[in-house]
Amino acid sequence: MASAKGVNGSRKELLDAHAHVSNQIFNFINSMSLKCAIELGIADAIHKHGNPMTLSQLADALHINKAKSDGLHRLMRVLVHSKLFDKAETTTEAAYRLTPASRLLLRDESLNMVPFALTILDPMLVEPWLHVSEWFRDDSVTSFATKHGMPFWELQGVNARLNNLFTAAMACDADFSTTILTNECSHVFRGLKSMVDVGGGNGATAKAITDAFPGLKCTVLDLPHVPTLEGCENLSFVSGDMFEFIPHADAVFLKHILHDWSDEECVKILKKCKAAITPSNGNGGKVIIVEMVLDDNKEQKYEATETQLCFDLQMMMLVTGKERTEREWAHLFYVAGFQKYSISPVLGLRSAIEVFP
Ligand SMILES: C[S@@+](CC[C@H](N)C(=O)[O-])C[C@H]1O[C@@H](n2cnc3c(N)ncnc32)[C@H](O)[C@@H]1O
Repeated sequence: MASAKGVNGSRKELLDAHAHVSNQIFNFINSMSLKCAIELGIADAIHKHGNPMTLSQLADALHINKAKSDGLHRLMRVLVHSKLFDKAETTTEAAYRLTPASRLLLRDESLNMVPFALTILDPMLVEPWLHVSEWFRDDSVTSFATKHGMPFWELQGVNARLNNLFTAAMACDADFSTTILTNECSHVFRGLKSMVDVGGGNGATAKAITDAFPGLKCTVLDLPHVPTLEGCENLSFVSGDMFEFIPHADAVFLKHILHDWSDEECVKILKKCKAAITPSNGNGGKVIIVEMVLDDNKEQKYEATETQLCFDLQMMMLVTGKERTEREWAHLFYVAGFQKYSISPVLGLRSAIEVFP
C-alpha cells in the first residue's frame, strides 16, 4: 500500500509533487483566463481609463452583469498572478493597471497579440488537443486532422472563418517581428534589389520590409485562397505552390514556413529556394529564414525554452512540422545543398537565419 510519504520520498516531496501535478493540470486555465480578458476588453478598458482602475470601475466599463463582480475579482487575481496585469494598492481600494504584457493585448496598438491569441485559443485549434492520444494510434497526419477530418492547410482553403482568423494572426505577428527585424537586422536586407516572400500570407511582412527598404521589390507567393493587401508599392502577389515553383530573386524570405513542414518537405522547399536565388551566371543570393532555434538547455532562459517546446508540439498537432535545434537546421541546409549559414538571435524566441549557396 502507498504511504503518505510516497514510495521513497519525504512528506514534503510528496506535497511538492502533488502541487506540481495540480499546477500542470490547471495550466490551461491561465490560457483561458487570458482569452476571457481579451474578449471582455479588460486591457483596453484600463488603457482608456488612463489611471489604475478599481474593480467597480472596471465592472462598469466592461458592462458585465453586476451580480458577477466577485467573479471579475477572482479572474483579475489569476491575471495579476500571471503578470498580465498589476494591482496598485491605493489608500482606499485596490486598483488594476497594465503591465508590459497587457500592453500587447491592446486592440488599437499596432504591436498587439490579440488576433494571434484568439486564433491559437479558438475552439477549432484547441479541440484537436483533446485528440492527441487518439492521433498517436491512428493514421491521421495530425491530431488537427483526427478532429476535423482533413489537414490544416486543406481546411483553411475551404473554411472562410479559419482562413480569416489565421491570416489575421499571421499579419499581427508580422507587425510585431518586422519592426524588430528591420531595425536590428537591417544588414540582412541591405543591398537586395528583389526578394520573394514565400508563404507570405496577406503581404503584411513584405510591406513592412519594402517600406523600410524602398529600393527593394518584393513578390509575395502564397496559396490562392489567402487574402492579399491592396495598393502596396514595390509589392506584387503571385498565387502558387512553393513545392512547384518559386520566382527568381536576389533573396528568398521564409518566415514561419519551414517549421510547418517535415524534414523531407523542408529539403524540397529549400532546393526550390536555391534554384530561385541562383541566376544563370552562378552567383547565388541568399535565403533568409525567420524561425526558432530550439534551445533545450533548461538551466538558462527557462520560460523561453518552455514556450519553444510548446510551439514545437503546436506544430505537431496542427501541421507536419517541428521546431529545430541549430544542429537540425544545419543538417537541413547541408542536405539541400547550401554551403554556409549565419544565425542572428535578435527576435526573442526566434532568430533570423541567413543561408548561402
Ligand atoms: C505559418 S503561415 C506564415 C505566414 C507568414 N510568412 C508570416 O510569418 O506571417 C504559413 C503560410 O504558408 C502558406 N502556405 C502553405 N502551404 C503553401 C504552399 N504549398 N505554397 C505556398 N504557400 C503555402 C500558408 O497559406 C500561410 O500563409
